[in-house]
Amino acid sequence: MKKEVVLSGIRPTGFLHLGNYFGAMRNYVRMQDEYDCYFFVANWHSLTTHPDTKELKESVHRVIAENVACGLDPNKVALYVQSDVPEIAELYLYLNMLAYKGELEKTVTFKEKVRLNPDNVNAGLLTYPVLQAADILIHKAVKVPVGKDQEQHLEMARNFAQRFNHRYGNVLPEPQAFNYGGELVKILSLDGNGKMSKSENQMNTLYLADSDELLRKKIMKAKTDQGPTETNSTKPDYIENLFTLMQLVSKPDTYEKFNHDFNASSSGNCIIRYGDMKKQLAEDMVQFIAPIREKAAEIQHNKQLLHSIIEQGAAKARASAKATLQDVRTAIGMNYT
Ligand code: TRP
Repeated sequence: MKKEVVLSGIRPTGFLHLGNYFGAMRNYVRMQDEYDCYFFVANWHSLTTHPDTKELKESVHRVIAENVACGLDPNKVALYVQSDVPEIAELYLYLNMLAYKGELEKTVTFKEKVRLNPDNVNAGLLTYPVLQAADILIHKAVKVPVGKDQEQHLEMARNFAQRFNHRYGNVLPEPQAFNYGGELVKILSLDGNGKMSKSENQMNTLYLADSDELLRKKIMKAKTDQGPTETNSTKPDYIENLFTLMQLVSKPDTYEKFNHDFNASSSGNCIIRYGDMKKQLAEDMVQFIAPIREKAAEIQHNKQLLHSIIEQGAAKARASAKATLQDVRTAIGMNYT
């Protein structure tokens, strides 16, 4: 039986962090046996907001290396760079004729980017969701593992596919957002203010490329307080986040011990020692991240290996993209020989 096609993209606009690992990459790794997987670096998308390409090549290489270091197997999945698949750009062109200015202007991510950067409202930014739809539809992907913030883009991709099928015949399946098992872990910034971010609030984000020393320093500075005032109280967000991290990277006994200490604490009888907890978490985090960082650096510096991974991914992605584009051209009647 043919496996369902899963696809997701990562913009190379910053360093990958623990939120990306537990929210995305770990799930990609779980999917690679069960599905026909396409994972790619969205370097065209990054041009919509980051026109300066000085650091782009290094970022693209790092994202590829980090994904492999996290366990994606380039022999199982197609791991590729968007710009290596020019078929996507042609499909983007056809879909642009089916996308309306009004709906593009209403997109939440577009309005947010206009607000943040009013001097660079380019057509690429406006049609960002059209390019994203082309990324997905070019492989006839039906499952797209993404966070909540991408759901509107997925809905738009379904609309473009529907319009295409209605006008030219049934070629493009409608993709759905997909959260593996529904149990998405959300990792907050270490000061408790919002999610960890690729580019903002860097001292409160744990990056896969951080040194041991920097990881320790960030965790020791994470926000805590005087401790709970009543036994079994609800944890504030920033404390809950430390426990979440501990649950993800420490031994179950370690987590249980500190959780027990928290629940037994009250004002005047504070048993939990946040300093000790953070020290333990820092060591466990170093044990967790260091091997990923080292493996990623090894791959990133082995140019021959890196290039062969990228070439292998491009070849797989292009084969699939060509087949879809052939169907698309035939449906439109854009074939003259
Ligand atoms: N827009 C996505 C993000 O910002 C990245 C992306 C580009 C993507 N193309 C995609 C995600 C296709 C899923 C499918 O995170």
